[in-house]
Amino acid sequence: MANIILVGAQWGDEGKGKIIDVLTEQADIVVRSQGGNNAGHTVYLGSKKYVLHLVPSGILRKRKVCVIGNGVVIDPISLVGEIEGLRKLGIRMGSNLLISETAHLVFPYHRELDAQREVLKGKNKIGTTKRGIGPAYGDKAARTGLRMLDLIKPDSFAEKLKLKIRDNNEILKAFGAKPLQYKKVLESYAEAGAKLKPFVGNTVVFLHEACMARRNILFEGAQGTFLDLDHGTYPYVTSSNTTAGGACTGSGVPPHHMDRVLGVMKAYTTRVGEGPFPTENAELGDFLHGLGREFGATTGRARRCGWFDAVATAHATMVNGIDELAVTNVDGLDTLDVVRVCVAYRWRGNRLDRVPADLEILNECEPVFVEFPGWKTDTSKARRWKDLPAKARAYLNAIAELTGSSLSIVSVGPAREQTLFL
Ligand code: GDP
Ligand code: IMO
Ligand code: MG
Repeated sequence: MANIILVGAQWGDEGKGKIIDVLTEQADIVVRSQGGNNAGHTVYLGSKKYVLHLVPSGILRKRKVCVIGNGVVIDPISLVGEIEGLRKLGIRMGSNLLISETAHLVFPYHRELDAQREVLKGKNKIGTTKRGIGPAYGDKAARTGLRMLDLIKPDSFAEKLKLKIRDNNEILKAFGAKPLQYKKVLESYAEAGAKLKPFVGNTVVFLHEACMARRNILFEGAQGTFLDLDHGTYPYVTSSNTTAGGACTGSGVPPHHMDRVLGVMKAYTTRVGEGPFPTENAELGDFLHGLGREFGATTGRARRCGWFDAVATAHATMVNGIDELAVTNVDGLDTLDVVRVCVAYRWRGNRLDRVPADLEILNECEPVFVEFPGWKTDTSKARRWKDLPAKARAYLNAIAELTGSSLSIVSVGPAREQTLFL
């Protein structure tokens, strides 16, 4: 293989978890480098469903090492729960998981502040996952956060936490929210810290040595390009760099060790939470929800759905340097008569070929669609590219061309074997 950065090319939930699990067969190491337990990555092994939040999706394969990098924000209680849950499902959780000592921590006051700020925003709320992600990254940027290094040193941690709870209780009180009980938080965090300590280490050196030994590393992006703090539809974004550059800063592996960028996108578009979504289509949403699809893996919210937006995915190719594409959920469109693709936006009579950064403009953009005839064939049993109906292949070739990258993987169902390599 090589060192591959896998990113979401849309608004998250593109099927990254499934593709990571498939590609892990050829990888040695899988690394998460940003985000937190706002992510929900689904992997099916037979009829067994696994939803990974902080643990990389490579964990289900034997003899692979999974790394939670320095750029991730970790809710230790949630991570312990995830590790124990995976153990119960028969997954080995030992030396195959490594957690960065410099990853920042998420605390209950982050979650509470996340929720309170959303209330304060009213109709302008972001629609966050309420996992405390924004406030935790906020503390990191303000240089007031606590890290894994702090958590695993019980004595000094108790002191540091005391001050943090004291300060944050003042803020919570100003919001009219219930203050936190220091003793309770300390007890639960100390217990989680003791459980996580065996996994914690210097992941930067580990990954550097892996690069020197030419081991194959897969970087598992969380969220998607348009949720990127710098390149997304700000402020309706998450608080990390979800684009390819985030894999370097969030892991300590420098750019010259990265070989390829794989962009994952759905054959249509979905978005959870608020914010602009030019190709949104309620009818397509009702249709997909009716099939039991497109409900969030983390919060269970019904995802907003829309047609494929090639203006957006072309932007994703540009900011991530996408070399190859994986298109998932092709089977979701199997029964439609007509499939639409947005090839430009129309704004006040002007044609736009790029995604405008100004949300006042983006919110007024109307998609310019090109229509493709539906293939009206079950694609879920296809195992090779040539098994797909010609109309589906034409559609996939067109969206790859409009995105400006080459198609390398097509997914026609959640299972490993429902993956076609070109
Ligand atoms: P992620 O966050 O990018 O890992 O994606 P999620 O797991 O949140 O959501 C993707 C959903 O699509 C999950 O339920 C996957 O099991 C499912 N999925 C992935 N690829 C395919 C596919 O090709 N067909 C179908 N039917 N489901 C898929
Ligand atoms: P995966 O990795 C889809 C969205 C939230 C909200 C915005 C900010 O499964 O693709 P946050 O809690 O991060 O402050 O919320 O980002 N969001 C996601 N949407 N998939 C995700 O992760 C997401 N993680 C966050 O819905 O709109
Ligand atoms: Mg998801």
